[in-house]
Amino acid sequence: MATADKDVETTGLTGWIDRRFPLTATWKKHVSEYYAPKNFNFWYFFGSLALLVLVIQIVTGIFLVMNYKPDATLAFASVEYIMREVPWGWLIRYMHSTGASMFFVVVYLHMFRGLIYGSYRKPRELVWIFGCAIFLCLMAEAFFGYLLPWGQMSFWGAQVIVNLFSAIPFIGPDLSLWIRGDYVVSDVTLNRFFAFHVIAIPLVLIGLVVAHLVALHEVGSNNPDGIEIKAKKDADGIPLDGIPFHPYYSVHDFMGVCVFLLIFAAIIFFAPEMGGYFLEANNFVPANPLQTPPEIAPVWYFTAFYAMLRATTDPFKIVLMIIIALLGLFALLRARGKWRIALPVLALVVIVFMAFTESKFWGVVVMGTAVVSLFFLPWLDRSPVKSIRYRPLFHKVFYAIFVFAFLVLGFLGTRPPSPAGTLIAQICALIYFAFFLGMPFWTPRGRFKLPPERVKYKPH
Ligand code: HEM
Repeated sequence: MATADKDVETTGLTGWIDRRFPLTATWKKHVSEYYAPKNFNFWYFFGSLALLVLVIQIVTGIFLVMNYKPDATLAFASVEYIMREVPWGWLIRYMHSTGASMFFVVVYLHMFRGLIYGSYRKPRELVWIFGCAIFLCLMAEAFFGYLLPWGQMSFWGAQVIVNLFSAIPFIGPDLSLWIRGDYVVSDVTLNRFFAFHVIAIPLVLIGLVVAHLVALHEVGSNNPDGIEIKAKKDADGIPLDGIPFHPYYSVHDFMGVCVFLLIFAAIIFFAPEMGGYFLEANNFVPANPLQTPPEIAPVWYFTAFYAMLRATTDPFKIVLMIIIALLGLFALLRARGKWRIALPVLALVVIVFMAFTESKFWGVVVMGTAVVSLFFLPWLDRSPVKSIRYRPLFHKVFYAIFVFAFLVLGFLGTRPPSPAGTLIAQICALIYFAFFLGMPFWTPRGRFKLPPERVKYKPH
């Protein structure tokens, strides 16, 4: 690909490389002449922090694999060996286990930033979609990785989750057998989960992260005001409200990295188990297929979705059927064209299907839909402004209720089931879905503030 002359060094080693590889051009395009809005705030730390954690996970993972044994008879002991005998092995292992949780902390905050500033809206739909795919991959990566220490929670957690697939009508039992490769979670399962955890998913993850960043650099970053800086450029075509990523944001992000590493180190050195939230007590007991632990709960980052799964009881299935019936009726009254018939018919088919299938299966559907709904956000939100700053108060209240419901679900998923807990989880699950489903209706409504012409920036 030919590059402009100004992007090519003529002398020295860089000149030699530039005549063979677009080094200077790439550096300029993506770093020193990538113009980012000048009003980034601390919410913009989490993208680069996610990159940092990705690197930490890959590097520590490589060192763990040097001593880990993916064999059901040796796996648990090999992790203990890493912890006790391998020089600095304990540090590498704790960095990796803490890194897994911190990855989700950082990514949840990163997604929340996207939500409040409308970063998923046109023209950043693909940035968001790649992000959602990354989130799915991260969940798979964490799930596969959790089996590897071959502790009680590894074993029984995998057993429970793989068994969920058996609730799928017709193909379920064969599907879960196919995933495990055996009638119970066994050495065969451990080997394939190992393959997925160390190579298959990381490759996909890295590919998706590259796609995420390429898409972002194609359209440019959003900002807390949610206005497009590319709309106002100077005579040289540089956005008036843009500043070069390097050195301005490289320094900014470096500060974020320092604060993050302080927190990361404090956790590793003082609370690597985080009271059982990062490493569960039961996982320090070797896997025993003959003894079910008293409580099987996933790690905290899955608990919100797990709580929705558990909340899908028989009575809740009936509530869902009633809601689908009402939606069908609504479509019959309000939809136009072919949708007027198609949507009510679809609702009817789903209701009949629900009546003849067990609620466990619908729990899986609810859990899956909760994640998949995220992909549709760019088309569900119809507000005339992107950023929450210029939205009506009731939008802010809806966002707050949504986040609160998600946090409550996350908390309930860590607790043993109880009738009150199930009821609250059901209400929160309904709030979660109502937020997404209602978006096309409530997001265009209310009195919006007029976003400024240029980005607002207050130097610190
Ligand atoms: C391994 C995980 C991820 C990495 C390494 C990553 C990396 C990044 C980086 C470096 C940026 C630019 C800096 C910034 O805006 O903070 C960014 C922006 C963005 N990311 Fe991610 N990301 C990840 C996961 C996700 C996920 C799960 C989502 C959403 C589902 C997401 C959605 C976005 C959006 C919408 C932007 C544009 C934000 C804006 O311009 O306001 N990312 N990402």
